Amino acid sequence: MEGNVGIQDIVARRGIYYQAFGIYHEVGGFFDYGPVGVRIRRNIESAWRNIFVEQLGAVEIETTTIMPEQVFKASGHLSTFADPITKCLKCGTHYRADKLLEEYYEKKGESKKEEEIKKMDIGQLDGEIRKNGIKCEKCGGELSKVERFNLMFQTQIGPLTTDKGYLRPETAQGMFVDFKYLFRISGAKLPMAVAQVGKVYRNEISPRQQLVRLREFSQMETELFFDPEEMPGEVGEISVDAILGAKLNFEEAGKEEVRERSIGELLEAGKIPNKMLALLIYLEKRLVDTLGIPTELCRFRELEKEELPHYSKGNIDLEVKTSYGYIEIAGNAYRTDYDLSSHAKLSGTDLSVTSGSKKLVPHVAEASIGIDRTLFALLDSSLQTGDRDWAWLRLSSAAAPYQYAIFPLQKDEKLEAKAREIYKKLAARGLQAYYSSSGSIGKRYARADEIGVPSCMTIDYQTLEDGTVTVRNRDTMKQERVEEGKL
Ligand code: GLY
Repeated sequence: MEGNVGIQDIVARRGIYYQAFGIYHEVGGFFDYGPVGVRIRRNIESAWRNIFVEQLGAVEIETTTIMPEQVFKASGHLSTFADPITKCLKCGTHYRADKLLEEYYEKKGESKKEEEIKKMDIGQLDGEIRKNGIKCEKCGGELSKVERFNLMFQTQIGPLTTDKGYLRPETAQGMFVDFKYLFRISGAKLPMAVAQVGKVYRNEISPRQQLVRLREFSQMETELFFDPEEMPGEVGEISVDAILGAKLNFEEAGKEEVRERSIGELLEAGKIPNKMLALLIYLEKRLVDTLGIPTELCRFRELEKEELPHYSKGNIDLEVKTSYGYIEIAGNAYRTDYDLSSHAKLSGTDLSVTSGSKKLVPHVAEASIGIDRTLFALLDSSLQTGDRDWAWLRLSSAAAPYQYAIFPLQKDEKLEAKAREIYKKLAARGLQAYYSSSGSIGKRYARADEIGVPSCMTIDYQTLEDGTVTVRNRDTMKQERVEEGKL
């Protein structure tokens, strides 16, 4: 089985997420979330919203997921958002050529070559396939010439076949298209941050590693519009100077070495292109800290020139070490005025604004965070095995699907009524709790640990007498009696 067997086991048994359209045939790259998964996703979103919307002061919007062709003509996605593809000439299986080669060299233990593959154009990838005699993994057939395959899902808007539309591959474009209107209704001042959460779609050639490469997934994106000649001292509640001393695990482009560096030092060295991108990176670190992904598993990686998306003048991605190796959970890009200027040109609408006494097309720093990958990194990094008879998740209380589990000690009307009463009170206070009365207490503790519930509360006969309950801590398994009113 791919990846961390322990985590797959919990994911499958508790239905945290699972293959979509299960009653039909499997279509790669689509997953549904079950009740526990939905709660964790919601917590990731809340933590993000608190930091990027409430503290940064972004205006949060929701734009459509289907957009007309012009949007993606302007954004460059129509011409450049493509992956290299090769097809088996015998059985028709498609492969993403760069990934096929990366896996080939990984198996040979040639990590340097793996890195080189990332920078190759389609001609070079084709040459590598021929040189190494790589054949179809399924049937051994010859592979076709490598071509470029656009990753956007195309659709038709209305009955006329001429009105082409596309499912958005990023939420960002809605924020660029709406920028001028939002600027006008939100105080007409730079810097201005716009944020959005939503579904995006990419027709991946060979989706794999479950939540890591999906065809439909969710992003939490923030676009920070600013004047590049007048870097603001603060944005929302955050002072830029106050973040300069913060430290990050950083990997420079071209160096396979992660070092702890301060944001101030990285800015001075030109490793982070500007203070606005630095601010977003700092907030992202705060997000993973809040969610509880261990710092030692995180690295911010400066992308090499050849790896940059078409709109970017500098990317620093946040990657987390998981059982699949490092996976990118966030991309941070300095998009300059690329998008606004392109939309202005194609739409014929002036998208410059007047901020203070200056007229300009603002520049943009972007933090684009994947919810699904963040959830996977959270689960994978919190898995604990070996210290008890069951595997369990050390999720932070910010991420855990429930803060409390409530158990009547045994099936007894009086205990159950009391437990229900406590459950109701906690729910009314907005705490996330669940109630369970089936199975032995030991089994119920194990099931709560398995999905990372930090505390379990048992209601027994003493509760009926003195109003105290037994609270069991997930991490230490220690139990203490607590007055119900002090929960
Ligand atoms: N908005 C950046 C991305 O989706 O990759």
